Amino acid sequence: MNGNLMKPSSKKTTAKNSPKGSSPQASAGRKNTPKDRLPKRLLEEKKPSFRSIGPSKTLGLAIWRQLLSLGAALDDAAIIALAHKHKNHCMRLWEGFTGHKALPRDYLSRSEYRLAYLLSFHLINSARLEVLLRRLMSERRMNLPDLPVNLWDFGCGSGAMASTVIDYLASKRLKLAELHLGDSIASLLAQVEKSLLVALPKGLLLGKIHRHTSTFAPGDVRTAQLDPEQTHIFTFGYHLNELDEVARANMVAWMGKLARSRAPVLVLIVDSSDEQVCKGLMDFRDEVVENGMKAIYPCPHDYACPLVATNDWCYSESLWNLPAIQQKIDEIIQHPRRTMTMSSYAYANQSFLRHQRLPAKPQKVLVGKPLDKFRKDMQIPVYCQEDGEIKKELDLAVPRLQAMRGSVK
Ligand SMILES: C[S@@+](CC[C@H](N)C(=O)[O-])C[C@H]1O[C@@H](n2cnc3c(N)ncnc32)[C@H](O)[C@@H]1O
Repeated sequence: MNGNLMKPSSKKTTAKNSPKGSSPQASAGRKNTPKDRLPKRLLEEKKPSFRSIGPSKTLGLAIWRQLLSLGAALDDAAIIALAHKHKNHCMRLWEGFTGHKALPRDYLSRSEYRLAYLLSFHLINSARLEVLLRRLMSERRMNLPDLPVNLWDFGCGSGAMASTVIDYLASKRLKLAELHLGDSIASLLAQVEKSLLVALPKGLLLGKIHRHTSTFAPGDVRTAQLDPEQTHIFTFGYHLNELDEVARANMVAWMGKLARSRAPVLVLIVDSSDEQVCKGLMDFRDEVVENGMKAIYPCPHDYACPLVATNDWCYSESLWNLPAIQQKIDEIIQHPRRTMTMSSYAYANQSFLRHQRLPAKPQKVLVGKPLDKFRKDMQIPVYCQEDGEIKKELDLAVPRLQAMRGSVK
């Protein structure tokens, strides 16, 4: 996940209407307001308007149980026994992903690390994508076109991204036309396909599951052949940061082709909230938008990213309403998680946007939350706005837990 970090491009965006005054501090243009000047009503606001909790739906959990068991779904006691057995492997992966130690080579090709990944990373990554989908569809008021979905999951690993999208489709009674799984580890693809075929409700998948191994890259998906009677969803979960310069440039060019496709296209990206990864993805976002794709989350505008020129970086947060079984696993591996952070981005082309039922409404997204100088339990929300400006809302301090970066207002 934190392998070769995606290298930030040296090229800066040339979007015509680049906003000025990009730093939160510079844009705010005034000092913190003393606490006695803040309206009491706002200081004591109880309504959790920034709170967002990743739901955990049943189909995603059923797929996960199948993946763990490779046969009949395991019960909780068996899963807990697995967590005790692989506690050290879980910790080892954790050290790798947080940059404390190199990751074991091809870790997901080894059964002990594959199980450890499933026990400690699959569901949380799935929840991260659920939060992105929820913010997109509920808070941003968007909808998937009423068409069958052709889903492509690149660097799919254990299929956390694919199963989250499938879970969402099932909840909306949409069909899965085809599923493409891409990963360099062939045995893993076979395991994911087998588990999905057992767990998917009958009638959900109309066509086939296709497995693509290492030589396959996003650019190999020929955009001219995308069926306009299907929605094409491309997911990249903790995969983009592993691209080298050449693959990254190909990816930007390919996104330009997707932008011009007659078929509706949605690209979903979830990655680390590490500073370097985030900055790489912010640069990537500017290039992709210049190439014609519309950034539909988190950005409420198509201007150049106003955080690029600052020391700050853009990422999302959410509370995680983790399933009881994950809570037990986390206790065993001594890694309790209730909050999640991630880079998350969604891009759509014009064809996808033509299928929207509701007109876009002016919105802003929380991108920062410095502590209030005068009340340390309160934070000052900083928003990225529709006009491409960053604005610090000095008068709207909120209690700390309520302020979730990436929430849409
Ligand atoms: C950190 S895992 C992410 C798995 C999953 N997408 C998720 O979000 O949980 C990265 C995956 O990318 C795969 N991968 C890395 N480089 C690849 C490449 N060049 N081609 C295909 N897959 C690759 C790895 O095998 C691994 O399964």
